[in-house]
Amino acid sequence: SSLPRSSFIIPLCYVYVCLVNTSVSVVMDTMAVLRCPHTSPLTRISTTWEIILRDKPSCKKAYRSDTDETREINCTDDRITWVSRPEENPDLQIGPVAISHDGYYRCTITSHDGTFWHEYHLQVLVPPEVTLFLSRNRTAVCKAIAGKPAAHISWTPERDDCDTVEIYSANGTVTVQSTCAWEDPNVTTVTCSASHLTGNKSLWIKLNPGLGTSRFPSLTFLIILYVKLSLSVIILVIVGFVFFQRINDSR
Ligand SMILES: *[C@@H]1O[C@H](CO)[C@@H](O)[C@H](O)[C@H]1NC(C)=O
Ligand SMILES: *[C@@H]1O[C@H](CO)[C@@H](O)[C@H](O)[C@H]1NC(C)=O
Ligand SMILES: *[C@@H]1O[C@H](CO)[C@@H](O)[C@H](O)[C@H]1NC(C)=O
Ligand SMILES: *[C@@H]1O[C@H](CO)[C@@H](O)[C@H](O)[C@H]1NC(C)=O
Ligand SMILES: *[C@@H]1O[C@H](CO)[C@@H](O)[C@H](O)[C@H]1NC(C)=O
Repeated sequence: SSLPRSSFIIPLCYVYVCLVNTSVSVVMDTMAVLRCPHTSPLTRISTTWEIILRDKPSCKKAYRSDTDETREINCTDDRITWVSRPEENPDLQIGPVAISHDGYYRCTITSHDGTFWHEYHLQVLVPPEVTLFLSRNRTAVCKAIAGKPAAHISWTPERDDCDTVEIYSANGTVTVQSTCAWEDPNVTTVTCSASHLTGNKSLWIKLNPGLGTSRFPSLTFLIILYVKLSLSVIILVIVGFVFFQRINDSR
């Protein structure tokens, strides 16, 4: 009674029933075709696609050979269609693929040779947008925005103590943000690599030579302020003293 998971080529056949279970990944905005088990059109009695998507009632598309009839139950997405006339080709076409097409698709063919199933677990991939910028002089921030599944960020020179956060969106995409500081002044350029099932991307950026912390410039600023204030006080005291002397002299 246990269904095989992700068995790719060899269908599992019991007496007159064959099951195949496949995981497929499809990049968003492309076209996808899901195939039914291979059977002769002459022996087919009926073909049924059952489509189970998140947050939707399951949809059924069925074709009967004897009456040459197609039926649809609860199917609302017009991007999911028969590839061509179901009496010729029972396959299903999805496109352009959207995130909402994540789910389970099962083709059941009943024929004079038996019943054949092919179930697909369709995973929609979304390539992330990768950005890299400096937040402070020697701190770089790399983002892989709205990817599905989450991208993996790594740095060159290699680091594993960076501050990495993952932000999940309601639509199933993930933004990964990695923030890293390089105190070693010998490191002048850093590279961020975002690896993802849809392809890897690398960006590089030059670090500023300035110190990573802002202690030094603000200390200078305080010293200058202190000197200026002290000078003002001294000048005021001298002016006041001279003024006082003048008043005293004029009496
Ligand atoms: C169609 O969807 C409704 C809910 O929207 C559900 O109650 C009904 O059972 C579905 N019909 C079939 C045949 O799946
Ligand atoms: C998913 O949601 C995020 C944030 O709400 C948005 O930036 C992104 O474009 C969405 N992606 C898709 C494919 O709808
Ligand atoms: C930086 O480079 C110099 C010369 O190559 C080396 O002597 C020094 O040890 C390096 N500093 C660090 C922190 O690696
Ligand atoms: C992407 O990067 C990962 C790990 O960094 C690697 O295993 C994979 O082969 C790379 N993929 C491509 C297409 O270069
Ligand atoms: C950043 O670098 C610039 C130029 O190298 C320097 O003038 C500035 O003080 C630095 N700022 C910080 C916060 O380190």
